[in-house]
This record gives sequence, structure tokens and C-alpha cells, in this order.
Amino acid sequence: MKKETVIILDFGSQYSQLIARRIREINIYSKILPFNTPIDKIKEEKPEGIILSGGPSSVLTEESPKCSTEIFKLKIPVLGICYGEQLMVYGLNGKITPCNAREYGRTELFIQSKEDLFHDIPAEQITAWMSHGDKVEKLPGGFSAIACTDNTEFAAIANPRKKLYGIQFHPEVVHTEFGMKILENFCRNICSIKDQWTMSSYIDIAVKEIREKVKNKTVILALSGGVDSSVTAALINKAIGEQLICIFVNNGLLRKNEAEAVKKLYAKHFKINLKYVDAEKEFLKSLRGITDPEKKRKVIGNKFIEVFDNAALEIKEAEFLAQGTTYPDVIESVPIGDNPSSMIKSHHNVGGLPDIMNLRLLEPIRCLFKDEVRKLGLELGLPKEVVFRQPFPGPGLAVRLLGNLTKKKLDILREADYIVVDEIKKANLYYKVWQAFAVLLPVKSVGVMGDERSYENVAALRIVESDDAMTADWARIPHDILEKISSRIISEVRGINRVVLDITSKPPGTIEWE
Ligand code: XMP
Repeated sequence: MKKETVIILDFGSQYSQLIARRIREINIYSKILPFNTPIDKIKEEKPEGIILSGGPSSVLTEESPKCSTEIFKLKIPVLGICYGEQLMVYGLNGKITPCNAREYGRTELFIQSKEDLFHDIPAEQITAWMSHGDKVEKLPGGFSAIACTDNTEFAAIANPRKKLYGIQFHPEVVHTEFGMKILENFCRNICSIKDQWTMSSYIDIAVKEIREKVKNKTVILALSGGVDSSVTAALINKAIGEQLICIFVNNGLLRKNEAEAVKKLYAKHFKINLKYVDAEKEFLKSLRGITDPEKKRKVIGNKFIEVFDNAALEIKEAEFLAQGTTYPDVIESVPIGDNPSSMIKSHHNVGGLPDIMNLRLLEPIRCLFKDEVRKLGLELGLPKEVVFRQPFPGPGLAVRLLGNLTKKKLDILREADYIVVDEIKKANLYYKVWQAFAVLLPVKSVGVMGDERSYENVAALRIVESDDAMTADWARIPHDILEKISSRIISEVRGINRVVLDITSKPPGTIEWE
């Protein structure tokens, strides 16, 4: 079954992903491809529509990214956004010149034609988000202006006969009024897309694809309990049931009750074939004496590969390795000029297979954004606590226990961490803050417990707000909740007699302490 698709050719705009998301928000499947994707590859995709993204370059420079002008002859509707509009005009022999006055930010747009792109927009004048240094000076044959601004005669242009459209503003950003409507008009009216791409239709398609690909073979998956691997497991389980074997490695660095919770949810509830590997001793042995944070990460990473490979090798019938790779991990764009944001992105999920095994990759959520993965998880019946759980680093508690790791110290940290999360949940803050956890410091301080002098470790509370973990701020948690956390840790956790609060933002700090 073919999905009706809109292809977005990426010319290096910071908004390319946003365009893709907006199209998906109107329940249409969209896909980003690099600007230099060969025309035959684009034809193979059989898209219903093509969007040329914006970009930081000027079409007037030799080295600026350009696509083949064949794209305008495919009889597929094309919408050029900002740089994309200029490229369309340039490619079809119109004229582009540098602006005298650069337009940037909110700009009034005067609509001249309510057909096609501006169909059903209940205003003659809307606010649009602009950001351009060049402008269209002369239109190619067959085009006419359909909107203008005070400075730009050709702020929106159309060649309805050939279904080619260009807009100088960004409909994908929230500051453009009716931006979604403009994109919807392009996809539904101009490209005539009928599909309603929803998560339940996605499940049907994905299940069918997995069955066709896997047939009666066996698939293995490293289940971490994180969102991506959990959703991947639930989806593949729906498609092929017992042919999926999940490997869950207990590295001894997990949170309290985590291994039990994973076993209960996947083995009992979802009836997933779960291979539980208790490697706690092995991990702790290899971490003995290591205090440097990066060394810890390396040892844990290598050990994981070793343990996972050994477990996987026991499953002789395995032919596929499933991975929870998601869309932001794989969107491939080509470096344009020295724009660092447009480099090929790599991620720990997108990696090599163990050499010794001859496994084929299965990545059923490869085309989904994070929020879509969550929607899919809920649709598949995963509980909210799993789908919206706070991020937990791969190296686990190891990067929250400063200095030398021992089982005893890990148990102390596990108890403190449990209390932090428990109280944050009780205060209805778990889904509001980005992360909330305890850090065990290799520092001892004096206290009094009853009549006795104590001399024990310090725990720090790290509770942060963030949108994407790139920047973060310490969360202003009400004092009574902090007090509850502190007093519970000190009275319930033997080994900690003092609690401090981390009030460092990121940058300059990081979220984790190691
Ligand atoms: P930092 O400490 O760099 O963390 O501000 C940003 C986000 O990444 C998580 N994090 C990790 N995740 N392996 C992971 O899978 C790691 O080694 C790692 N280190 C940090 C961290 O929890 C936060 O959400």
C-alpha cells in the first residue's frame, strides 16, 4: 500500500524538520531528502508534492545548493519556500536580485488572490514571518503574483497551470498567521492528497511491512526500557509475536525495581519473548577502580556490546536485529557551506551490527519524530509512565555516582533516586520537569542523628526544566516538596546524612554531574 507523500528537499534551512512536522500534523506523510537527491530517486518515491525548503544561501552565488530544474517538469506540484521560491524563479529564467532592505521577522502580507494557496483564508492581510536577503525581481513566464508586502512585490507567486508555487515567507513557523492553512491548501487542494496519515494507519502499514520483510524469521532487539526501544518492541510484537526475542541486560546501574518492572510489562503483560541477562557482577567488576567519567562510559559501552553479543549469539535462529532508530537520528543532509547544523547526524542507535553475526537491520520507527513515537506507543497500549518517562542515560547510575563505584554505594543512590522520583510524582511534577534525580557525592559530612554523631555521604538533588536537553534550567520546586524529599532521604536512606540542591543552569553546567 503506497502512502501519499510530500517530499521536502532540504537546502539547509533550520526549519526543514519543522516543515516535515507541520505536514504530518495535517495527517499527511512527509519525508526530508537532501537537496542534491538525484532526480531518478525523487521519481522513484512517487511523491504527490514537493516542497523546496528555505536555506541560508543566495541563489546568486556559484556554490549555493541547487537542484535540477527537471524537478519543475515532473508534473508534480512544487512549493518553494523562501530560498526555495528564489531557486524556482532562478531555475525557470526569472530574475533574482539582492534586497536593498532585508526583510526580517513579522511582516504584513497583502493577499491578492484567494485561489489555491490562500483559499479560505478569512483575511485580506495577514502577518507572515520573513527572513531573506534576496528577492524576486522578474517572474518567469506563466507566473503571477498572488501576495505582496510593502517591500516585496512577489511575496507569493503562482503558475497554476503547472502547479508551481513560491512564497517568500515561512508558513511553518507559528508567527505566520494561517501558515498551517497555506500548507494544507498546497497538500490537499493543489496536490490532491486524500490520505489521512494517523498513528493507527501507521500501525497497519508498519505491521504489514514488518511481516513482509521478516516472514517466518526471528528478530532480536536490545530492550533498554527507554521510549524508543519499548515502542519498537511493542510494534514488532504486534506484527510477529513470538518471532521477536528481546534481550534486556541488567548492568547493575539501573534504578530501583527497574529490572522487575521491565520483566513484568514486557514478559507478563505483552507476552514478549524476553531474554533477561543479569550482568550486574560483570559490569561492576570491569568498573572497579575507574573514576574518570569518560572512562566509565567507555567501559560500560564496551561491556554492553560484549554482553549483548554473547546473548545474541545464543539465539542461533536470529536473522534480524531490530533497532529503535528514529527520524532525527537518520535525517541526512549534506553540509552546505560552513553551516554546521547541516552535517550528517550520527547517533549511538545508528551503528554497526556485531561483525560475528550476519543480521539484517529492522528499523520500524525510523521515519517517526519523537512525539510521534510517543503517540504510537500509547496507541500500542504502552503505559504513560513508559511513553513519557524522563530520559535516563545509557550508563545509568554510574554517571550519578561520583568516584569509585561499588554495589553498596549504588544501592544507596538507588534508594535516594527512588524517593526523589516518588515525591516529584506525588507533587504532579514528574511530567512537567525534564529530569529529576539524585547524585551521590564522594564527600562526607558530619551530622547528628538522634544522640549520635554521624559521618556520611552527601546527596545532591538535580531537578531541571528543558525542552531538548541542549539547554536547561534548575526547576523552582516549592520548598515544602524539597523539604519532604530531603527529610525522607535522610531518614530512610542509610549512608546519606545531608542533602544539597544543585542550582546550576546548562550552560555552563551539564544536566548530569559526570
Ligand atoms: P548533559 O549531562 O550532557 O545531558 O547535559 C544531556 C542529556 O543527555 C543525557 N545523557 C546521556 N544519555 N548516554 C545517554 O544515553 C550518556 O552517556 C549520557 N550522558 C548524558 C542526560 O540524562 C540528559 O538528558
